[in-house]
Amino acid sequence: MQQQSFDSSLLIVLMLLIASFVLTGCDSELSGADLYTLNCAGCHGAAGKGGSTIALSDAAYLATHDDKTMTQLTSEGVPNTVMRAFGKTKGGTLTDEQITAIVKYLCSARTTN
Ligand code: HEC
Repeated sequence: MQQQSFDSSLLIVLMLLIASFVLTGCDSELSGADLYTLNCAGCHGAAGKGGSTIALSDAAYLATHDDKTMTQLTSEGVPNTVMRAFGKTKGGTLTDEQITAIVKYLCSARTTN
């Protein structure tokens, strides 16, 4: 009896997951914030505020790194660190559009140009 109710709740969770993918049109439609949380927050901290490594949405960081540099570093990774290449063209998992969305999200904290 107990086992049976566990199985059906698992089934409901699975159905909700599938439904959310269908409704959002697959994970390529995730926002920059969602993509950041899924791929980067583990190291760079929630909302880019810093974690086991540097903060990316920090005003001082953003003042010295433009979007192009950040996009390139995200796509290609940083050699000799755990920062791997995320760009699909570099063997990673993210499309150029997804990386652009993440950088745009992080740069919303930029106060200078
Ligand atoms: C496994 C941990 C880890 C993950 C996950 C990770 N990074 Fe990094 N990232 C690092 C480390 C470590 C560095 C090197 C920091 C340094 O230069 O001291 C770095 C550096 C960077 C830099 C360059 C900083 C600079 O100017 O030198 C950018 C930009 C960056 N990460 C963006 C991202 C983005 C965007 C994501 C998600 C798509 C991400 N990182 C995911 C660990 C990670």
